[in-house]
Amino acid sequence: MQISLTSGKKIKCLPETSILESLKKAGIYLTSSCGGKGTCGKCRIIIKSGQAVSKSKIKLSQEEINKGYALACKTFPSEDLFVDIPKQSMLAVEGKVVTGKSKDLQALLHLTGAEITPFTERVLLKLPPPTLDDNISDLERLKRELFSKGMACLRVPFRFMPGLAYTVRKGSWEITLCTMHTEDCEEIIGIAPGNKTTPQYGVAVDIGTTTIVVFLVDLTNGNLIDVASTYNSQIRFGDDVITRIVHATEHNKLKELNDAVITDINILLSIICNAHSIPIDSIDCFVVAGNTTMTHLFLGLDPSGIREEPYIPTANAFPLSFAGELGIKVNPNIPIYAFPCVASYVGGDIVSGVLATQLYKKQELCIFIDIGTNGEIVIGNAEWLVAAACSAGPCFEGSGIQHGMRATDGAIEDVKINHETLEVELKIIGENIKPTGICGSGMIAAIAEMFFAGIIDQKGKLQKDVSNRVREGENGLEFVVYSGEGRDIVLAESDIENIIRAKAAIYAGFSTLLKEVGYTFDDIQKVYIAGGFGKFLDIEKAIMIGMLPELPKERFQYMGNTSVTGAYLCILSRKLRAEAEEIAKKMTYIELSVSHSFMNEYISGLFIPHTNIDAFPNVKKLMKR
Ligand code: FES
Repeated sequence: MQISLTSGKKIKCLPETSILESLKKAGIYLTSSCGGKGTCGKCRIIIKSGQAVSKSKIKLSQEEINKGYALACKTFPSEDLFVDIPKQSMLAVEGKVVTGKSKDLQALLHLTGAEITPFTERVLLKLPPPTLDDNISDLERLKRELFSKGMACLRVPFRFMPGLAYTVRKGSWEITLCTMHTEDCEEIIGIAPGNKTTPQYGVAVDIGTTTIVVFLVDLTNGNLIDVASTYNSQIRFGDDVITRIVHATEHNKLKELNDAVITDINILLSIICNAHSIPIDSIDCFVVAGNTTMTHLFLGLDPSGIREEPYIPTANAFPLSFAGELGIKVNPNIPIYAFPCVASYVGGDIVSGVLATQLYKKQELCIFIDIGTNGEIVIGNAEWLVAAACSAGPCFEGSGIQHGMRATDGAIEDVKINHETLEVELKIIGENIKPTGICGSGMIAAIAEMFFAGIIDQKGKLQKDVSNRVREGENGLEFVVYSGEGRDIVLAESDIENIIRAKAAIYAGFSTLLKEVGYTFDDIQKVYIAGGFGKFLDIEKAIMIGMLPELPKERFQYMGNTSVTGAYLCILSRKLRAEAEEIAKKMTYIELSVSHSFMNEYISGLFIPHTNIDAFPNVKKLMKR
């Protein structure tokens, strides 16, 4: 059987294989924030002709069914099909958007004072051909040449020996060595005949519990070539790290979780490489940042100790691994550096984030918060660093919210509601694009605007008679953020509750950690915020809903995804890699979940903005208007 796509492509399919899987096998990747469980509704396709069996748990609207919409992950072909894939269902690279991002990253690298000294280098060597007088071996000839270039220490792993004689002669004694710098010595990770010094790329990866982001970076100049991101398909085994650890250990499915993340990374990489016609053998290294559980699952390490008292991971600092050992589909010999972690619940993503903010070099007291599936908070300066974690849930990354999505094209990233007319104005990511969902920044803006327009009360309950956009939906009351042909974008009351729980956990984390170290919000000079909110996060609205403390706006700096930014810095600078190791050693961890103060703060935060309204004097004034 086959599926013909409107693009003209034809792919093979089987009745027992979902359309999502068949597409994946053919190199066509769809958004699947539930990992194929059939609960997110993001893998919509349109069946133009042919019969298929649907095992979907989500009810599509009658209008959608009439148009042939189906969920690819829960639809199985009964005969040949003709299928259209809507643009919003496709996984894609960021493309043009990265030009500005690339400049910002290069400026940040410059600001750190670090030179470009990439994790791996390519060196061109012209060896003098051997003669009867100069009759040393090929390996000695290679080492002699490197010694004359100041590279006194060279390790040659045995795996390169069998091909050495052939390679040097094939290139008429001109060869390109790919090396990595470890423990004051260069180690060969590749040998090729002739001049292959360019192109050379590195890959920086953020493995989030909910989202995976891949940067392809030109190692010669720090240029960001492109960005690709997707939902972590481990989601199908559970939303949070605990359920995934349980799945890995009690169900003996560590390999399944490991395969899921490796496959995601391979897919993202192949999408970028195809989009830019980049040969896979020009990729020389990987730097990966993730929380402690994600790093363990990526490396295939047993995560069971992370969950059980006294919460001990297999490792906090990880020996270098190689692509071939992990199943990454590039040259098997290229090295993979995983950011060191601090403790079971403060991982390499936070070390990477602290590196990106440069907080560890500041004299004044600063706070860094990474709002992901977990909210991780670091407080400190050049003298000390203390970290804590609070579970915010994946809602700001679009997971667990009916029409939630990542901050990519088509996402509603800002919402304004006219308090008089209750008219709604939306800002969408992308040019001339219709909205397909709402991302974290859009959710925060929507909650703030709905609250001040009187559409929701302090507990987040929708008020039926205030706006005609409030209606009874499939999951109870909902607010129609956008009404489009065929598919409205709504925030249901259950979505709003989810968002309020997340913002309460974040604020409780802030205030409890500050109390634990003996400071107040007034002592904080800078608040760095990280998260997958895209380019935009309205700080004022985040304060209005009580997610962030009420401090002068200029003290806040939104940094985007700092985990992948730190990985980008590390791939380009040896100095910054050494600093990342120091940050991990210096940071201490405080467990907040055992603190009564945290629970009290959390419960007080389940209101908009907070039960202690005096902590938000300006919001209080606005509420009185
Ligand atoms: Fe198909 Fe989520 S509904 S991937």
